Amino acid sequence: MAEHSAPLPYPSGWFCVGRARDLPPGRVRTARLMGEDVVLYRTRRGAVRAIGPHCPHLGAHFGAGGRVRGEELVCPFHGFAFAPDGSCTGSPNGTRFRGELARRRLVERDGALFVWRGGPEDGPDGAAPAWELPPAVGVRPLAWWSGELLSHPQEVMENSVDFRHVAVLHGLDTRESAPPEPDGPLFTVHQRTTTRFPGLGAVSLDQPVTLAGLGMMRLTAELPDLGSSLLVWVLPTPLAPWRTLVRFAVTATVPVPGVGAARAVDRAASWLALQASVRIIKQDRPVLAHKRYLAQPRLVPGERSIGLFRRWARQFYPEGSDAGTAVEPTGRTVEPTGGSRSGPPPAQGPSGRP
Ligand code: FES
Ligand SMILES: [Fe+2]
Repeated sequence: MAEHSAPLPYPSGWFCVGRARDLPPGRVRTARLMGEDVVLYRTRRGAVRAIGPHCPHLGAHFGAGGRVRGEELVCPFHGFAFAPDGSCTGSPNGTRFRGELARRRLVERDGALFVWRGGPEDGPDGAAPAWELPPAVGVRPLAWWSGELLSHPQEVMENSVDFRHVAVLHGLDTRESAPPEPDGPLFTVHQRTTTRFPGLGAVSLDQPVTLAGLGMMRLTAELPDLGSSLLVWVLPTPLAPWRTLVRFAVTATVPVPGVGAARAVDRAASWLALQASVRIIKQDRPVLAHKRYLAQPRLVPGERSIGLFRRWARQFYPEGSDAGTAVEPTGRTVEPTGGSRSGPPPAQGPSGRP
C-alpha cells in the first residue's frame, strides 16, 4: 500500500454515512467519517439521529452496546437514556444529568444518509450547515456498490470534468457538451456519451452530472424513445486523510412493452448499469491510488473545466489553504501530422463515472 501525505485537507460538506435501509427502527450503527466515529440510530417511531460516539457521562461508546428503547438511546455502561433532542432523560435509578449528546446534522436523500461536517471555523458540528443538499428526486436506488480508494473526494469528483482520461483510461466516447455551471455549492457538468445499443446503432445520450459539494454526484440519462432512464449517484466519503469510501447507487427504469414498468426488469437493468460503473471505478482505482495531487497542474487547451472545478471546490476549505489553486491551461495542443487518428474504442454503455 502506497504511503500518502494529504496535500488536501478534509473538505466541509455533506457526506454519505450509509444507506437508510441498513438503519431500520431500533438499530444502532457506527460509521466512519474523517478519522472519527459517528453513531447512527433510528428510534422505534423512525426518527434518525447521528451523534458523536461517546456518552457525556463517562465516555462509553454508543456503538459498542448502545441500544434503542422506544424513542430513547440507552448507554451500555450505566444505562443513562437520551431523547431524540439529545437531552438526558433518566437512568435505572432515576438520576439524570445536564449534558447532551453531541448531535450531528443528518439528512436522508433518496435512500442515503448524509452527515454535515463543517470547516474548522464553523464551530461545533451540530451548528447549522452552511448549505443544504438538493431535494431528493424521489427514486430509491435499486443497486449499490461500495469500495475504498486511496484518494480524496476532490480527486474522485475531478474525474467528472477530466474528459481526456475518459477516452484513454475508460475507452468511452464522452465529451463535454457545454461548459460546466458552478452555482454556489452545486456544480453541473454537461456531457454527452455516444454508445452503441443492439438494434439501435450509435446513440448519443446527454448525461448532465450535478455535484453537491464533494460528497454527492448525481448523473441522469434519459432515452426518451424507449421511455428509459438512468440515475447514478457517486458518493465519496473521506474516512481518513487520503482514504475514501466510494458508494455507487443506481436506478435504471426500463418499461417493458405489454408489462409497463416491471420492478424485476428495473432491478436487472440497474445491476447491469452498476457493473459498468464498477468496471470504470476499478480502472480509476490504481491511477488514483498512485497519482499525486498537483496544486499547479499543466493544464492544456480543452481542460479549462478542471480549473473551473478546482476554483469552485475552494469554497469547501478553510481560507488560506492552497487547495484548488489551479490555473488557466498553459500547455499547447500539438496537432497530429497525418496518419490515422486513433479514436476511442467503441463505448460499452451509458455509465456513471468516475
Ligand atoms: S458512560 Fe454512558 S451512562 Fe455512564
Ligand atoms: Fe474515471
